[in-house]
Amino acid sequence: MKYEIITIGSVTRDAFFKSDAFKVEKNPNVRTGEQMCLMLGTKIAVQEVVFTTGGGGTNTAVGFSRQGLRTASICRIGDDISGRAIIEEFEKEGVANLSQVDKEYPTAFSLILVAPDGERTILEHRGANDHITEKEIDWSGLESEWLFLDSLAGNTNLMKEAIDWAKKNDVKIACNPGKKMVQMGRELRPFIEGIDIFISNEDEAGLITGVEPGNTEKIFEEMDKIIKEVVVMTRGPKGVMVSDGKNIYSAGTPDSPVVDRTGAGDAFSAGFVSGYINSGGDIENAIQLGTANATSVVQYFGAKKGHLKKGDWGGYPKIEVAKN
Ligand SMILES: Nc1ncnc2c1ncn2[C@@H]1O[C@H](COP(=O)(O)OP(=O)(O)OP(=O)(O)O)[C@@H](O)[C@H]1O
Ligand SMILES: [Mg+2]
Repeated sequence: MKYEIITIGSVTRDAFFKSDAFKVEKNPNVRTGEQMCLMLGTKIAVQEVVFTTGGGGTNTAVGFSRQGLRTASICRIGDDISGRAIIEEFEKEGVANLSQVDKEYPTAFSLILVAPDGERTILEHRGANDHITEKEIDWSGLESEWLFLDSLAGNTNLMKEAIDWAKKNDVKIACNPGKKMVQMGRELRPFIEGIDIFISNEDEAGLITGVEPGNTEKIFEEMDKIIKEVVVMTRGPKGVMVSDGKNIYSAGTPDSPVVDRTGAGDAFSAGFVSGYINSGGDIENAIQLGTANATSVVQYFGAKKGHLKKGDWGGYPKIEVAKN
């Protein structure tokens, strides 16, 4: 079977707990300046519990499939109930399941504590995700037009093998790297050289280029040298900036409610790359669909609910895209 896109990346079982009792307190001594506090030795009532699946590799796969792309997903699950829930979801969403099953480690699990304002703290057990391996991928049997690389748990052998496979087989590559890859900083550059679409947020782009995050022009200048087609820098609710090496496009986000911002990045990536593929490389269209998809997903708990279907823009007004 030839796919239009194959994702490789993480998968998790997610449980969202939302409670009025999850108080946020200011604390200048912690990195974010705020912390979530739970009283020790008590039982705390949780008003809302939602079970979903997450992980960038599978979130984006669902997004691509809903946009009508023939999609497969390579991830690593455990031999357990959570893993089976993910396979069931793939079936429901029309995503071909190419997952690896770990006999030793469980499917990754995240407990997401959501404060009343929608901000959250994630408790994460990475489980089988950290053991995804290039050795259990049948490279010679894989056929696709695009490859989407998400979090690879810092497995540089897998990254290298995936990119080599893609280049050898004329498969285009989009990448939204995970935390460990981003932490490689400038050392990530030889790996991503020559890929087609590179997506990261502002902080991540700063780390990878070694340029201070505010200096967008310099970041794009550096990234344009190594990325073949499109460099995307997301900026949370502020929106996104995109370079195709000739122009820099920028857009904000529509004014709309946020219930839970988990999955915004994945939803944007899935919408952007689908929009780009389905329009034959129209960047404005890609930005519009990425933004609409992220705006839709942040209105629900979980990183899969809200992904838009092909032709449905979720009723969001088109945002203005400036081109310089
Ligand atoms: N609250 C929001 N409302 C609407 N759109 C949003 C919101 N947050 C993010 N987006 C859109 O999603 C894109 C990606 O979000 P962001 O920059 O937060 O990614 P990220 O840091 O990779 O997030 P994640 O933590 O999910 O990986 C943004 O560029 C923006 O277009
Ligand atoms: Mg992200």
